[in-house]
Amino acid sequence: MKKSTKRIGILTGGGDCPGLNAVIRAVTKTAITYHNMEVIGFKDGYDGLINNKHLSLKFDDVSGILTTGGTILGTSNKANPFAVVTKKNNKYITTDMSNVCVKNYKKLKLNALVCIGGDGTITIANQLAKKGLNIVGIPKTIDNDLCGTDFTFGFNTAVTTAAEAIDKLHTTAQSHHRVMLIEIMGRYAGWLTLYSGVASGSDIIIIPEIPYEIEEICRVVKERSKKGKRFSIVAVAEGAKPKKGKMVVSKIIKDSPDPIRLGGIADKIADDIDKLTNLETRVTVLGHLQRGGTPTPYDRVLASEYGKHAADLIAKNQFDKMVALQGNKITAIPLSKAINTLKKVPRNHHLIQTAIAVGTSFGSPNFGPK
Ligand code: F6P
Repeated sequence: MKKSTKRIGILTGGGDCPGLNAVIRAVTKTAITYHNMEVIGFKDGYDGLINNKHLSLKFDDVSGILTTGGTILGTSNKANPFAVVTKKNNKYITTDMSNVCVKNYKKLKLNALVCIGGDGTITIANQLAKKGLNIVGIPKTIDNDLCGTDFTFGFNTAVTTAAEAIDKLHTTAQSHHRVMLIEIMGRYAGWLTLYSGVASGSDIIIIPEIPYEIEEICRVVKERSKKGKRFSIVAVAEGAKPKKGKMVVSKIIKDSPDPIRLGGIADKIADDIDKLTNLETRVTVLGHLQRGGTPTPYDRVLASEYGKHAADLIAKNQFDKMVALQGNKITAIPLSKAINTLKKVPRNHHLIQTAIAVGTSFGSPNFGPK
């Protein structure tokens, strides 16, 4: 047997999404078969790097996982090596454990670390790169809010899940002549709501980038009713906010690096519609269903391409980069270009224009059919 050329680590961080296993499989298989590398998987994201929890990944360990949701490595959206939070005497204490991570990386004789995650995970990866670790990042998130890449894997599957759910709401909305609101994830960006809203023909799409006016939402649903369409579908992003108001926070997770969890805005809009019209409303909150299930073929392909490209970069000693999709081409950008700013939906995005052209309202008098 040929001697290994390199030893690489791999971890999945942040909230999970469909396609993580497809990436783990592609990185591991390419690393082993093309580049004769050894692969070590860290358990539960950065927690595995901090606490030295890992396992060896052989070719057969990653066989049969292309289509499965979740991550065989586990993940954590709390573990941050630079600020490990522990609770002592009812108080939260923060400790920098990044040097322990560097030590563990060296002890395992790793040549590189593949960090699969969203903006939190990639930001930490960039900090670890500054401490001397050789990093390659892979962009993951159902929110599609990472800069420098057209699409993150996981997004397409979440769009499919949300669109299918809205299709189902459509039939019951029609039968009962109701206004059906569906709250969709995505944090501070409206990508998931915009794409699933357009895909399902939602009548109103409410995203954080276009603050809504309740009077306009009510005007649209009443007008539809007057025209004989006695139901309406309103796709609401969890980060949506009224023109003169704030986002709705559902909870604060104290020991999380990103403690704010959004949720509840669809209930607020439904209450307002109830008060201002005679129409009956119902709310569905899709929640974590959007993060589960088998990845769509699109996400399996994207995840496989990202994984293979990441292993190839390591073989070429190209580090501190994140693989990315730009205009149908798989490429790589510096880690620093992917962080610091969230990729939000531009207000002049072509899909907003298309939605308006087919009669969709964005709950604002400036963004609706002419
Ligand atoms: O970032 C992915 C995401 O699913 C967001 O869309 C959502 O706001 C958040 O994570 C939910 O986080 P948690 O899994 O901690 O509830």
